[in-house]
Amino acid sequence: MPQKPSANDTIQIATIGVGGMGSGDTNTSLSIPGVKLVAVADLYDGRLQRAKERWGNDIFTTRDYREILNRRDIDVVLIGTPDHYHSRISVDALNAGKDVYCQKPMVQKIEQGHEVIDAQKRTGRILQVGSQYASSMVFHKAKELLAAGAIGELNMVEAWLDRNTAVGAWQYSIPPDASTQTVDWDRYTAPVGKRDWDAKKFFRWRNYQDFGTGVAGDLYVHLLTGLHVVTNSKGPSKIYSTGGTRYWKDGRDVADVTLSLVDYPKTAEHPEFTLCLRVNFASGGVTDAFGVRFVGSEGVMNVGYSTLTVNRRPREAEPGYTVNTFPKAVQEQFLKDYRAKFPEQRPNADSMRPDKEDVYTPPRDHVPHLEHHRNFYSAVRTRKPFFEDATFGLRTAGPALLCNQSYYERRICEWDPVSMTRKA
Ligand SMILES: NC(=O)c1ccc[n+]([C@@H]2O[C@H](COP(=O)([O-])OP(=O)(O)OC[C@H]3O[C@@H](n4cnc5c(N)ncnc54)[C@H](O)[C@@H]3O)[C@@H](O)[C@H]2O)c1
Repeated sequence: MPQKPSANDTIQIATIGVGGMGSGDTNTSLSIPGVKLVAVADLYDGRLQRAKERWGNDIFTTRDYREILNRRDIDVVLIGTPDHYHSRISVDALNAGKDVYCQKPMVQKIEQGHEVIDAQKRTGRILQVGSQYASSMVFHKAKELLAAGAIGELNMVEAWLDRNTAVGAWQYSIPPDASTQTVDWDRYTAPVGKRDWDAKKFFRWRNYQDFGTGVAGDLYVHLLTGLHVVTNSKGPSKIYSTGGTRYWKDGRDVADVTLSLVDYPKTAEHPEFTLCLRVNFASGGVTDAFGVRFVGSEGVMNVGYSTLTVNRRPREAEPGYTVNTFPKAVQEQFLKDYRAKFPEQRPNADSMRPDKEDVYTPPRDHVPHLEHHRNFYSAVRTRKPFFEDATFGLRTAGPALLCNQSYYERRICEWDPVSMTRKA
């Protein structure tokens, strides 16, 4: 493809990792005019077979993603592999001159982040991370409202992603034909070193630190993406996490309940605030809860998957008093002084009313996942990167991964949001 393709050029894509999300990203990409799938790579033969059933017998399939990167007819690769392969494939793909849509988290280890950023800068290719809430209208509306002072000065954010089902807790199906014949186990384990064959570690990879990034790396990233969109933040400075494997004692070596407290320093973009993050995989009834709640001095904004609610209450006009335990004469003196300072007013009308509530819902046809892909293909055509590039990717993945480190190391971790490096 020429450096700046015309609007009519077909963009030829290949997907590396065609499990759940790689397939979803492929289908969404194919719903965009001018996008054609030519190849897929996967390490389980059944998924390669299924790719042909879905997208036609003429697509090229392989176990070795490098065969895809070597093809000159492929402009774009979508990366839908487990997390331990994200940075390796991204860097190889950028070096091979491809544009990249890589699923979140952009990296499995913090140190890999700068390699991806450097590769993106050096090659000048487009890399967009697949956290679709970066393209969500509700988060962008919340950003506009926060900047306009709708909730006063931000001081705290609460964000959560709770689940209460087996599939939600990463208990995925294992196909009956799973074996070292149908799965390229050696290639799968190559980045981490030799491991004994274990179908669970292949099909339920999220539950193991070797291949996934735990609930913090995997799911906090969505919450941090939304938060960073709304606040325009570069990231936090201090992180503490705790939690444990409380319900899903199925051999996993990651937590199923994690709570984190995260401090964001004052910057030109936002005041100092504290973030409380939570994932609970046995949340007692709520099957799929997702939210980011922005608390300010004059209101609260709640952002969900597809709604934004703003509740506002102006601050009181006068501070009020608590004097009736004082001796009578002291009360009288206090009230005299008080009224001199705050001449008698009628009761604050706003304090008598319930909070003012505004609800924003995007148009019915707004699907963040589709919008995110549209933004990506538009960047591929115009060569103007969408803002969720490799740097944005590390600004969310880095603190999310540090939430895990804090939990594993049982201590407060420090992060430099400007240089995007761990300080302590
Ligand atoms: N944006 C979102 O909302 C969202 C949702 C789900 C998953 N994801 C992300 O998508 C990625 C994939 O998750 P999933 O749920 O689809 O997992 P999955 O297990 O369903 O699919 C992963 C696929 O990658 C293949 N694979 C593994 N190593 C490979 C390699 N080296 N080369 C080629 N193929 C390889 C596996 O065989 C498997 O088919 C993860 O990074 C996950 O965090 C994002």
